[in-house]
Amino acid sequence: MTTTQPDLTQTVLDACHTLAGFTTTPGSITRLFLTPPMHDVHAFLEDWARRLGMTSRVDAAGNLRCRWEGTEPNAPTLYLGSHLDTVPNAGAYDGILGVVLGFALVETLSGTRLPFALEVQGFSEEEGVRYGASFFGSLALLGTAGPMLDLRDAGSQTLRDALTEFGLDAEALPSAEIIGETLGFFEIHIEQGPVLEAAGQSVGIVEAIAGQSRLDLTFTGRASHAGTTPMPLRRDALAAAARFVVAAEELARSTPGLVATVGMMDVKPGAGNVIPGEVRCSLDIRHAHDEVRLAALPELLDSAKQFASERGVTVTVMPKMEVQATPMHLQFRALLHQAASDVGLPHPELVSGAGHDAMVMAARMPSAMLFVRSPGGLSHHPDEAVLAEDVTDALALGERFLHLLAAQSGSTGGKHGL
Ligand code: HGY
Ligand code: MN
Ligand code: MN
Repeated sequence: MTTTQPDLTQTVLDACHTLAGFTTTPGSITRLFLTPPMHDVHAFLEDWARRLGMTSRVDAAGNLRCRWEGTEPNAPTLYLGSHLDTVPNAGAYDGILGVVLGFALVETLSGTRLPFALEVQGFSEEEGVRYGASFFGSLALLGTAGPMLDLRDAGSQTLRDALTEFGLDAEALPSAEIIGETLGFFEIHIEQGPVLEAAGQSVGIVEAIAGQSRLDLTFTGRASHAGTTPMPLRRDALAAAARFVVAAEELARSTPGLVATVGMMDVKPGAGNVIPGEVRCSLDIRHAHDEVRLAALPELLDSAKQFASERGVTVTVMPKMEVQATPMHLQFRALLHQAASDVGLPHPELVSGAGHDAMVMAARMPSAMLFVRSPGGLSHHPDEAVLAEDVTDALALGERFLHLLAAQSGSTGGKHGL
């Protein structure tokens, strides 16, 4: 570590621990988009921002945005941070570690101004759990989140009404869009997979983020008596859906680099002595190369239709989200490699199987990610963890990256970083 205070790592870990306590499920971590604990998260981080001399605001999309101005009032902005929302029964580091490290990187400056401003983002919604579609927070910075306002959650509340209930003004959503010159976006995030641990490395530089498609499928048969309905006369929606789940697994197992998951299933009427009449399930399918994913998806949906028709069941498909595979910015990656070398760290590159706000921000500005080792490769699980020494490495590398960027920006005058 260079000039980063040795106890800053402890500050980061303590902050993640405190923030994990802001949850709708005491004893575990569940903090969905625009739920009440998000107010506590904002208050905790705004207090830290204030102590660092940063300005802070919650924008119309519910993003927490904290700024450390540059040497010049109209200096370009480097965006840092990650997302504040979690999956149900989550770990304490997915998203939140990147937000906390954003504040910690500002703290490493000890009041120094850079030739660019830093704006730490606490994105309001990345996981896509509540509304089935991801990235509302970061899309709002691009000015393209408007079409999501009419999405409805499981309780049939629109995203628009949820913003109002949280104390925000959905009509002001366009004001969340980035204005002014941008330098880029830098996100630090846990790897959420086994690659860095297997390589014995603490940190890794992200080459690209896999593309993904998320859909809902509804299998509609006919509920009837489990005891009196002969097998040939059944229209069993769950039997059709179950064949689909196995087919998704089989296709992914047989296609290198493809992952496919049915993570949610809702069975109606849900009684043990009633043949299921309706099943709604999710499909999440991903690959680093879009052509592989886009070839696999229709094949899988055709099999869903076949399993359904064999049983007198119909199936409807509701696309929820699609994001293309996204390469990270070449020059930012080179600067991260340089920073790693300068602080004496190995710097492997890897592809991200998880989606991240960086894939949204990359549509508008140079974007890069640094991964921190996930012990056990575990994430989206309460045992998700980080090692203190890896947080120290990430801080040292991130601090060096800022200084290399400052040296480069100072010589080239800013705008779009390089
Ligand atoms: O599901 C994901 O890719 C991430 O956790 N948002
Ligand atoms: Mn995440
Ligand atoms: Mn996640």
